[in-house]
Amino acid sequence: GKSGYDHYMLKEIHEQPTAIRQCLSERVTELEGCIDVDSLASVSVPDRVQFVACGTSYHAALYGTRLLRERGVPATAFLASEYDVDAVPIGDDALVVGVTQSGETADTMGALRGANRVGATTLAVTNVVGSSAARECDHAMYVRAGPEIGVAATKTFVSQQIALVMLASELTGEYGDELVAALRDLPGKIQSVLDASAARGIATEYRDSDAFFFIGRGYNAPVALEGALKMKEITYRHAEGFAAGELKHGPLALVTDRTPVFALVTGGSNPTKTIGNVKEVETRGAPVVAVTDGCADVERHADFVLEVPESHPALAPVIANVQLQLVSYWVANQLGRSIDKPRNLAKSVTVE
Ligand code: M6R
Repeated sequence: GKSGYDHYMLKEIHEQPTAIRQCLSERVTELEGCIDVDSLASVSVPDRVQFVACGTSYHAALYGTRLLRERGVPATAFLASEYDVDAVPIGDDALVVGVTQSGETADTMGALRGANRVGATTLAVTNVVGSSAARECDHAMYVRAGPEIGVAATKTFVSQQIALVMLASELTGEYGDELVAALRDLPGKIQSVLDASAARGIATEYRDSDAFFFIGRGYNAPVALEGALKMKEITYRHAEGFAAGELKHGPLALVTDRTPVFALVTGGSNPTKTIGNVKEVETRGAPVVAVTDGCADVERHADFVLEVPESHPALAPVIANVQLQLVSYWVANQLGRSIDKPRNLAKSVTVE
């Protein structure tokens, strides 16, 4: 059941601290300050990594590429439907990682089967034990989010992000005490957002807007994409997410006083440049919502602030995403949408 929540989506948003604890359980050894994922023990360090995924899982994959590149492993994320083993050379030492909550998505399975066919090593990062992806890949790593009923991916996205943090750390042996400590503190920080988010009021203020824009850089860029996807699918409102630098290359033409812009600014994600982008939208009269871990410079330009507790630079965006989930949820709620089963969408997309 929904345990007293109006929707599964809200319940699942609130389950995120638990989902993270489950994902980390017995994988992060705090005493030794290390990350050790059993299922990856036999995966050798790849020369490069190719992610294949769709939708929200693709956003997690984009996040994963940055984690790996920071640790010296070239990594690329492909939309599974655009992945073509004939066009994309797969070296002998490449690892192809399918990120798929259900483990059944046709596009993702097609890409993974192609990779298997040409002899690549494949790894499924999935939530469903015994799913097609888990069975057909050489290796499987489970994100352990527990069942997700809402069509909109929420807790499984967070769990994918954390699984990819562990994957990148384990494959390269690079994690650092700070990351391990920050992972331990993450569930509590997300809980504090759930307990005291300003998202509901912001949703009330802006629910009738013409469009919603989301911008961020670095680890926040995939979060901006995810914020927009969530908004589209459950509110049916026009929403777009961009790497902040792209705004001026076209989308800025859409910005008016009826298009709130959510600016993600957290530690390490180049605040100065993003604040420059915020000023550009402010000049056009757009309402600005800063999603930030206390960056006073962006707050100064904001109509509202969604607070992100300070964390590791790679993890603050994971928390910021929770604020965006709540905004979309409350907009959809106030518009009376079918939140758990949005029109035209299915939880598991088994056609290509
Ligand atoms: O099961 P998968 O992770 O492979 O599903 C991929 C997408 O269909 C999925 O992430 C979809 O975008 C979400 N339900 C959106 O919230």
